[in-house]
Amino acid sequence: MTAAPQPEPTQRPARAPRQPRPGPVAPPMDLDALIADPETRIVVCCGAGGVGKTTTSAALALAAAEAGRTVVVLTIDPARRLAQSLGLVELDNEPRRVDIPGGAATGATGQLHAMMLDMKRTFDDIVAAHSTPERAQQILENPFYQALSSSFAGTQEYMAMEKLGQLRASEQWDLIVVDTPPSRSALDFLDAPNRMSRFLDGTMIRLLMAPSRAGFKFASAGFLLFSRIVSKILGGQLLRDISAFVAALDTMFGGFRERATATYELLRRPGTWFVVVATPEPDALREASYFVDRLSAEGMPLAGLVLNRTHPPATTALSATRADGAAEEVLEAGGPGAELAAAALRVHAERMQLAAREQHLADRFTSAHPEVAVRTVPAAAGDVHDLDGLRSMGEELTGPDGDTPTGTPRSRVLPARRR
Ligand SMILES: Nc1ncnc2c1ncn2[C@@H]1O[C@H](COP(=O)(O)OP(=O)(O)OP(=O)(O)O)[C@@H](O)[C@H]1O
Ligand SMILES: [Mg+2]
Repeated sequence: MTAAPQPEPTQRPARAPRQPRPGPVAPPMDLDALIADPETRIVVCCGAGGVGKTTTSAALALAAAEAGRTVVVLTIDPARRLAQSLGLVELDNEPRRVDIPGGAATGATGQLHAMMLDMKRTFDDIVAAHSTPERAQQILENPFYQALSSSFAGTQEYMAMEKLGQLRASEQWDLIVVDTPPSRSALDFLDAPNRMSRFLDGTMIRLLMAPSRAGFKFASAGFLLFSRIVSKILGGQLLRDISAFVAALDTMFGGFRERATATYELLRRPGTWFVVVATPEPDALREASYFVDRLSAEGMPLAGLVLNRTHPPATTALSATRADGAAEEVLEAGGPGAELAAAALRVHAERMQLAAREQHLADRFTSAHPEVAVRTVPAAAGDVHDLDGLRSMGEELTGPDGDTPTGTPRSRVLPARRR
């Protein structure tokens, strides 16, 4: 047996710059086709707090209207300036037509209508409607009422579901785009009907709804004591007012269980799509992961993940290391403009590092959910608060999703900024 010839020891060639290992490639998401498809009747935007659900909903709704559809967007607590640009200046539970300047120029025959849900004001209005102004004021300022109303977690989600059911039943809309509330957890939206049901069935609520002796017939001694204390602290009148408020709430939600079940079923019907929104941050993507798993467990259709507010570098051709190195060299060489050039190179290096971190998080998500389509939307220079901003965001969401100018697939390295 002859030994394999050993290669001559040679000088090691200079190491080529390390290429990032290819990560998983997420399937592309074609939101343009999705919103234009007449079969698409409901799009629900969900995700963790502050990631851009309201903005994404409004941008998709505008894009769909400009594609010729009759759209209503149900927004929840939109930022004031966005609300203003959608013509939503006062609480109004009915959709209002949004005037789209330049709509004619795009040849669109569609319509955009918008409405918003504002639960705090809805609750306060119920209180006002069920007592005198003076007593209403007392209730609103009462810490007990405030604590009680904050324990209505899920009410807003429930109301959004309820409203969605109504909008769908009216058959007036080609497409309904639903924003979801700023929940602690994105899953709250799906859990709301159940939570509401547990809440209204809760002992304390039943107690509050029937503060008379008869109502306490079956109450335990502990609850009798509790009610006496509550009534002592609040005063009998206030307790009666709060009871009236809770009873009004019960009337408002009467039959809610059946309707909630119907709406829940609506969300599973063909024609409904969920769009999960996240920013390239660990918490938001973790939340998106939970949501994706939950949707698949519930058999609810997922359009994909919108990775919003990403920070693509101006070009991916110059690596962070090389940019930092070049900054050093420029400074060493000196001369006019050296400092400025070095600063620009360093900014680029930081941007590349940020993009790499964001890409790493996106890759982790795609490794865990290889089947989920992903669309990235770069952070705009400022807030998105007017129709022009929404239109640009819509273009990012629905425009062509090809390779980046560097030839790297868009879903691999966060795309270079388009000029
Ligand atoms: N791509 C973007 N570029 C720049 N700013 C953005 C982008 N997307 C959203 N924003 C801004 O981020 C802020 C939060 O967005 P938005 O209100 O849509 O989030 P949200 O998920 O609805 O929040 P909440 O959970 O509080 O309801 C807004 O000021 C919005 O203008
Ligand atoms: Mg919002």
